[in-house]
Amino acid sequence: MRRRTAGITTILTIGACLLPTLGAAAKPADTIKYRHAVMEGMSAHVNAFMLIATNKIDGRQFLQNHGDAIADLSGELDSLFPADSAPSSGGSEEPETHALPAIWDESEKFAAAVTKMQEAAATLQETTRSGDNKAIMGAFAAAGKACKGCHEDFRAEEEDDHDHEH
Ligand code: HEC
Repeated sequence: MRRRTAGITTILTIGACLLPTLGAAAKPADTIKYRHAVMEGMSAHVNAFMLIATNKIDGRQFLQNHGDAIADLSGELDSLFPADSAPSSGGSEEPETHALPAIWDESEKFAAAVTKMQEAAATLQETTRSGDNKAIMGAFAAAGKACKGCHEDFRAEEEDDHDHEH
């Protein structure tokens, strides 16, 4: 019994050490890497969703997975752009970022773009559950527009546009 308590105490102690770091200042380079990973993840789920919704892939049973993922990842958008990850503030070893200063200079407008995405993604998630394909395609188009709208205002164009499908 004593041992067990000690074990639990150890776990709690480790937990207490780890937890604060989750929200604490990450290195800007890592924030940028993470932001890219989440964006790429959203993009992958949008592509998968599209292939199923347009009947190119026979995978209706998976559509909800992708709708859920798009909604879940959209929920992270508010925290992907801390001030120290703005383009000019980093060191030379930092990965390239296409985030525009407007994200921080016009933070209310940016917050509105985040909300728009989250609402569109929540609607997509609900609609996917309904199974009504016409409604699903409408919600999917609206979600794609929310991606695109934010990119137009807040993401710098790349010279080669290879990974931009939105
Ligand atoms: C609220 C704004 C916003 C929304 C909404 C948004 N993005 Fe982005 N996205 C950005 C910004 C800003 C960048 C550039 C980030 C950087 O380079 O640090 C970006 C980058 C990307 C990238 C390139 C990532 C890389 O590795 O360079 C992809 C792909 C992407 N977004 C896909 C999507 C998809 C798909 C959606 C919709 C489901 C979406 N984004 C919604 C703002 C947004």
